[in-house]
Amino acid sequence: MHTPFTNMTFCIRTFGCQMNKHDSERIAGMLEGLGALPVETIEDADVVAFMTCCVREAADTRLYGQVASLKNVPLRAGSPLSKRIVAVGGCIGQRDGEKLVEELRHLDVVFGTHNLASLPRLLEAAIAEGGHQVEVLDAASSFPTELPTAREHHWAAWLPITIGCNNFCSYCIVPYVRGREKSRPLEDIVAEAERYVAAGVKEITLLGQNVNSYGRDLYGAPRFAAVLDALDATGIERLRFATSHPKDLTDEVIGKFGTLRSLMPALHLPVQSGSDTVLAAMNRRYTRAHYLGLVRKLREACPDVALSTDVIVGFPGETAKDFEDTCRLIDEVGYHQVFTFIYSKREGTPAASMEDQTPHEVVQSRFDRLVDMVQKRAFEANQRDKGSIVDVLVEGASKRDALLLSGKSPKNQTVHAPLPAGRSAEELAGSIVRVRVDEAKTWYLSGEVVDGA
Ligand code: SAH
Ligand code: SF4
Ligand code: F3S
Repeated sequence: MHTPFTNMTFCIRTFGCQMNKHDSERIAGMLEGLGALPVETIEDADVVAFMTCCVREAADTRLYGQVASLKNVPLRAGSPLSKRIVAVGGCIGQRDGEKLVEELRHLDVVFGTHNLASLPRLLEAAIAEGGHQVEVLDAASSFPTELPTAREHHWAAWLPITIGCNNFCSYCIVPYVRGREKSRPLEDIVAEAERYVAAGVKEITLLGQNVNSYGRDLYGAPRFAAVLDALDATGIERLRFATSHPKDLTDEVIGKFGTLRSLMPALHLPVQSGSDTVLAAMNRRYTRAHYLGLVRKLREACPDVALSTDVIVGFPGETAKDFEDTCRLIDEVGYHQVFTFIYSKREGTPAASMEDQTPHEVVQSRFDRLVDMVQKRAFEANQRDKGSIVDVLVEGASKRDALLLSGKSPKNQTVHAPLPAGRSAEELAGSIVRVRVDEAKTWYLSGEVVDGA
């Protein structure tokens, strides 16, 4: 079959969260299905697509710079096109639409978060007619997961169960660029999971901005816990999910940790702040006490569960006392991993018009202190695994040393071990090996393969 995409090369640059990464896999799946070839570098690509994020300002500024600099990169020899086609999609595409082509005149295509499937048509029009092809929709007409996928790894799959967000945390742009929450019917989720299991996928990560509110918009209101049960029944080896909003994490879901065969003992539970005043101003709709109660119940259900979280430092009005409350909470919980962010003002969100009482230097020094503390606690948390044997899902060779394999433990820790004699990282990728942990650092565990290779 000859299509306008036959012999064309493309490259996708992805920023932001797993939702965007997954959307990029869908785009790659569509373009490959039409005969285009994926390439690694922009120099080799006839079509370049940026999947963008605007959750914080830094990502925003970078995108405009990167697209602008493309103008100077010549088209490869042998390209079927007369000029490189540049497309911007994802959350900045959704937010800025026409404004992008006004500022970046050599941009050809802009699409949003609700119309991934239009990309091939927009690219075709840009190639055939030239000009600016901009299409941004207010809401999705269908669930994007009905599109094909070109997955990054053959053994792991992301599986969106909801799109959008209804929570409107006061600092966050996501509900404005991803729209209202929509759940995917359980039968579709299970059917996709079954296809993955049959294709040899070992790990599925369920995705949604708040997976805990899954199903409220569906007939019969199926609960998230029912999705976990149904996924477990497909025979998948490892099951994970992200992200969980603490206000909607139920006892039923907590009870799945430690009892559901495939559910890995790791949970990302963003707290954002340890101060009740800040949590209220953030519109998070839980208290510090409620959050700590969830942690206690999780550890009762599964004593070894590894917790990770997100924290924002320098939210408008955050006082020294509020920040101390956050530090105390972080100290008390003892997370395996904490993603720390400096508050970034996002136009159009309620927090953007709140008075900011904290000077940048103060925020920066709070941030540095928190990072320091988080690292010490992560180091301590990892020490507990020294001497134990962990099942590692191999991802390939370590980036630092080609003779080491690198993979993930059930608790989602990175694990390194020397490759067993005669085995290559490529052949082991996607299999599970047992590693005896001899050393535990802040960012990884290391040891020897004892079995399974
Ligand atoms: N739906 C998920 C992910 C949201 S974005 C959740 O609720 O956890 C990922 C993280 O980015 C958030 O948890 C938050 O910590 C951070 N974030 C979002 N908006 C931000 C902003 N304006 N400034 C700084 N960090 C922000
Ligand atoms: Fe943003 Fe809050 Fe929705 Fe997460 S739950 S995407 S932080 S509005
Ligand atoms: Fe960024 Fe959009 Fe995700 S703003 S964090 S890519 S939903």
